[in-house]
Amino acid sequence: STAGVDVSKMCAAHRAIDKHVKDGMILGIGSGSTIVYGVQRLAQRTKDENLSVVCVPTSYQARQLIIDYKLTLGNLDTHPKIDCTIDGADEIEKGTLTCIKGGGGCLTQEKIVASCSEKLIIVADGAKEVDHLGQKWKKGIPIEVIPMSCKPIQQKIEGKYGGEAILRMSADKAGPLVTDNGNFLLDWVFPETKYCWSSVHNYLKLIPGVVETGLFIDMTDECLVGDSQGNVRQLK
Ligand code: A5P
Repeated sequence: STAGVDVSKMCAAHRAIDKHVKDGMILGIGSGSTIVYGVQRLAQRTKDENLSVVCVPTSYQARQLIIDYKLTLGNLDTHPKIDCTIDGADEIEKGTLTCIKGGGGCLTQEKIVASCSEKLIIVADGAKEVDHLGQKWKKGIPIEVIPMSCKPIQQKIEGKYGGEAILRMSADKAGPLVTDNGNFLLDWVFPETKYCWSSVHNYLKLIPGVVETGLFIDMTDECLVGDSQGNVRQLK
């Protein structure tokens, strides 16, 4: 049955697995809803082709997916060098492949794993592709922070760039969302349309208490976007 299947996400994720995964590989597994289709495809290929692939997760969710689909779970202690990571994104700037990630809260481990990878392949539905970040994604740039530094960081960001740095709240409990690393998230809703994103990232990253930002700059090697007809396009 195709009920509940998002074809645009699925075809992009399938293409990435088919194109990039080879026997013997160390593969980084991203987080979010798109990557689920990738893990399903990988499980199928592993069975059909008897592949031996070690999967390094980027989140608690990814780790659980790897376990549920009976794939081989690895980590950065045993596999500090990753051949390829496949991950989703919240928004992708066409010309540069700069991405906003962390809508699902997993940006820090995603960036660590991506930084250890020979290649980062981003998979998404075409609706996430924009000329300038913020054109469609209105939830801002996720920034993971050490809990005690939350308030001063909010004030520093708003003082420097304006906009609003909003503490992400949990959907299920009264209080802030806690990341896989035990930290809080600020979603910085930025007021302008054009920034030098590397300067913004560098400024944010140097504020004491900031762990990581959801800006992925100069990291993506290839971006595959799908549509509802099942067509996949490569952005670069
Ligand atoms: C997780 O924190 C994010 O970075 C995801 O990679 C991103 O939100 C994409 O998720 P979807 O595939 O669910 O859109």
